[in-house]
Amino acid sequence: MRLQHAAAALIAAGCAFAANDAAAQGTLNLYCSVQVEWCQAIATNFQRDTGIRVNMTQRGSGESLAAIRAEGQNPRADVWFGGTGDPHLAAAEENLTQAYESPNNAQLQPWALRQWEQSGRRAIGVYAGAVGFGYNTELLQRKGIEPPRCWSDLTDPRFRGEIQVANPNSSGTAYVIIATLVQLMGEDQAFDYMRRLHPNINSYARSGTGPIKAVARGETGISLSFVHDAVTERNAGFPVSYTTPCEGTGYEIGSMSILRGARNLTQARRFYDWALTAPAQRLGFEAGGQLQTPSNRSAPLPPNAPDLSQIRLIEYDFAKYGRAAERRRLIERWDREVGSLPR
Ligand code: G6P
Repeated sequence: MRLQHAAAALIAAGCAFAANDAAAQGTLNLYCSVQVEWCQAIATNFQRDTGIRVNMTQRGSGESLAAIRAEGQNPRADVWFGGTGDPHLAAAEENLTQAYESPNNAQLQPWALRQWEQSGRRAIGVYAGAVGFGYNTELLQRKGIEPPRCWSDLTDPRFRGEIQVANPNSSGTAYVIIATLVQLMGEDQAFDYMRRLHPNINSYARSGTGPIKAVARGETGISLSFVHDAVTERNAGFPVSYTTPCEGTGYEIGSMSILRGARNLTQARRFYDWALTAPAQRLGFEAGGQLQTPSNRSAPLPPNAPDLSQIRLIEYDFAKYGRAAERRRLIERWDREVGSLPR
């Protein structure tokens, strides 16, 4: 009995010590715009590695930017991890984030550093991924529909009501798709194309991964998605495959930024340095099943991940399409001319 008490006291003391230790290391408020499994793995592992307590909020890229704008001079987050690169560039331009040079920059791919230079050292690349077409192999086969191979296929009546894509107001993925079409076709032609595509779209989902998850569940035949997200669903056992558009396609540089006025700046920089290391970048696959291309040169491309060097990528103009005014203008035009069309 007495022994038990002693053990209980010891455990209590241990907890108190751990709590003090965590209090001494402080807290990090994290906005996270990758899939929730990866966000949770990041929070748990960083907390374990450093003793810094993490409060994590997961939201889409567009939604995170809207929250950061609304909070303005009084930010609730210290770091914004992941999500497509364009809204990070817009946040940098609007002076909502701050410059930082990590000692780990030396370990990164050139495209990750280009993002950093273009943003005035405020946003850095943590991963990359390409846009393509995800599809449910069983559903399409059952309906006798050939999967799409080109952007030009998608407006075909055989895909009527069969395609899902996200809404660019909330989703960075959807904005990358619009910017890709504008760069491939020219702006007026791209909007004309999206209007012709509209009857084939059954829903504009809130999050970038909503459509591929709907494909996996068999609720829709086809999604416009990052192709690494299609492989994640296939690895989870769903009948999902993907193709990349024959005309060429756009891609994201998933980014990370420290907020201007971050209350926990020491912890924010510690997290930023940590998130650029190879072991942290391996977590995306190991703990979260994610298959983007990591920006740390020593982090391996996960098995079966799409190899970007094998995909016909456009010269995505991040400087132009990451500009806040351009992003706002294109999304407003989409709301007016596409999103509000009757179905
Ligand atoms: C998924 C992808 C990421 C992408 C993110 C954007 O998590 O795996 O590569 O950056 O979606 O999300 P959003 O909801 O903003 O389109």
